[in-house]
Amino acid sequence: MALSREELIQAVSSQMPAKRWKHTQGVMESAVILAEKYGADPVKADIAAILHDVAKYWPVAEMEAVIRDNGLNAELLSHDKQLWHSEVGAFVAERDYGVSDSEIINAIRWHTSGRVGMSLLDKVVCLADYIEPGRDFPGVEHIREQAQRSLEEGLIAGFDSTISLLLSQRRVIYPLTVLSRNDLIAQLHN
Ligand SMILES: [Fe+2]
Ligand SMILES: [Fe+2]
Repeated sequence: MALSREELIQAVSSQMPAKRWKHTQGVMESAVILAEKYGADPVKADIAAILHDVAKYWPVAEMEAVIRDNGLNAELLSHDKQLWHSEVGAFVAERDYGVSDSEIINAIRWHTSGRVGMSLLDKVVCLADYIEPGRDFPGVEHIREQAQRSLEEGLIAGFDSTISLLLSQRRVIYPLTVLSRNDLIAQLHN
């Protein structure tokens, strides 16, 4: 059974610290603005934004169990745990919150890494996650400026900032993030 928007908000906000819920509200706001600007469905953008970090505060062992027990992308388990909540969130959006719309599920699933061939809704939610009003990491203003030009320019700036940070910290880069960025550049040149 699908939950109402109000029920979803209640269910999701009660599983996270107030700070993360405030971030989620910012993503909801930015996702709707981007959807309206770039022709995506603002209602779907709003629902995907509400749910995008639903699994962010799950214990690592529970995320791992959901991934293993349900045949989800187990390759993620050998990468940064920060990537797991997107996969788990997409799964529980459907199983526990009755979301059946595959565009919404995909936007949740790919909101951290992106993917090759991101949908319009994937782009909106992923970029909103970078630029929501509460974000204040170094370089966020540049991403916000690029987001005014196009979803692709905004996302390239976003992924560049993520990749640069990982390089500077000598951390592993999830290959799909690089492939997503390269694909967006190719899209701009087509
Ligand atoms: Fe997230
Ligand atoms: Fe987020």
